[in-house]
Amino acid sequence: MKVANQHYRTIWLNEDGQSVDIIDQRWLPHEFRIVTLKTVADVATAIRDMWVRGAPLIGVTAAYGIAIAMVSDPGDENLEKTWNELNETRPTAINLRWALNEMKTFLAPLSPDRRADAAYRRAAEIAEEDIELNRRIGQNGLEIIRKIAAGKEPGEPVNILTHCNAGWLATVDYGTATAPIYLATEEGIPVHVYVDETRPRNQGAQLTAWEMVGHGVPHTLIVDNAGGHMMQHGKIDMVIVGTDRTTSQGDVCNKIGTYLKALAAKDNNVPFYVALPSPTIDWTVSDGVVEIPIEERDEDEVSFIQGKAGDGSVSRLRISPEGTPASNPAFDVTPARLITGLITERGVAPASGEGLRALFPERAH
Ligand code: MRU
Repeated sequence: MKVANQHYRTIWLNEDGQSVDIIDQRWLPHEFRIVTLKTVADVATAIRDMWVRGAPLIGVTAAYGIAIAMVSDPGDENLEKTWNELNETRPTAINLRWALNEMKTFLAPLSPDRRADAAYRRAAEIAEEDIELNRRIGQNGLEIIRKIAAGKEPGEPVNILTHCNAGWLATVDYGTATAPIYLATEEGIPVHVYVDETRPRNQGAQLTAWEMVGHGVPHTLIVDNAGGHMMQHGKIDMVIVGTDRTTSQGDVCNKIGTYLKALAAKDNNVPFYVALPSPTIDWTVSDGVVEIPIEERDEDEVSFIQGKAGDGSVSRLRISPEGTPASNPAFDVTPARLITGLITERGVAPASGEGLRALFPERAH
C-alpha cells in the first residue's frame, strides 16, 4: 500500500540479497522507520518485541528467518534449531508455525548446499501468496459490503467497526479485515470505519488509524468500551476483524476484546465477520477456549502508555500507581456461535466445522 505516495510492503528482501527490511511498527504513527534484520536473533527479536506483528506478517518474517539461517549453516541441526527458536517467539498466531513448517518441509529433502537459495525463493513465494490470499478475501468481503450499501440511501456510508490492526501492516499487503474496506473505497462505495483503540498496545489507534489516514478512508477512533454503545444506537452496520488462529470448528482467537465486541454484536443483531487466510486455520484444534495458548505479555504494556510529547519525542508514561500489578492476556477466543461468517480466500463460510470443510474439502478427513 502507499506511504507518502510510495508503494510499500511490510517486508522485503534487502538489496544485499540476504537480509530483510521491515517497517518497524513500534514507532508508528509518529515515525516511519525501516530496519534491516540480518541475523536469526534479529528476526526473533523483531517478532517477539512486535517490530512486526499481525499473524500473517510474523509467519512471513519467520520464513525469511529460516532463509537467513541457511546461509551460514544449512545443516539439519541448524534448520531444527532455528525452527524451534523462531517458533518460541509468539505462541498464539498459528501462521508462525504454519510458515515455519512450510519452510522445513520444503527444505528438509534438499541437500544442504541447495537450501539457502531455495529458502529465499520459498519465503518470497509465501509472501506473494499472502498478498494474493488477502486480495481474494477483499473481493469476497466486498460483496458483503456491497449488499449492505445497496440497502442505504445514496451517499450514506456503510459503518464498519474493526478491532486491533488486521490491516496491510499485519500482513505483507492489503490486510485481511481491511482488504474489503480498501476495495470498497476504490469502488466508490462510501464506507466509514470505527477504529477500536485496542488497549494495551493500541494497534487500532496507532496502526489502523494510520492506515485509514494514509488511504483516505473516513474513520473515527473510539475507546474499546464504546463499541456496544455504538451498536445499541444503530451506528454500526457490520464488524470485521482478523484472527490469529481459527479452529476447525470455527472458533476465532483474536486480539483481546474481540469476544466482547462479538457479544455486543449478537445482542444488537449486528453482523460480525472474521476475515482470514487459510494458513490461519488450525485444523488440529477443535475447542479454541481450551486448546489455544493465549500469549501473556509484559505487564508494563498495561501500566504504561506510549505517545508523542509536545517536543515531538516519543515516550512512555506510567498510568497506574507504582506497585499495582497488571495482567495482560493478549488474545481471547470468540465462539463460533457469535460469528456471522468467516471471509476466506475461497468464499464466505458459516463459522462451523461443516462450513469450513465445505470450502476446504481437502480437510474433510
Ligand atoms: O498482537 P498483534 O498485534 O500481533 O495482534 C494482531 C491481531 O490480533 C490481528 O487481528 C490478527 O493477527 C489478524 S492480522 C491479519
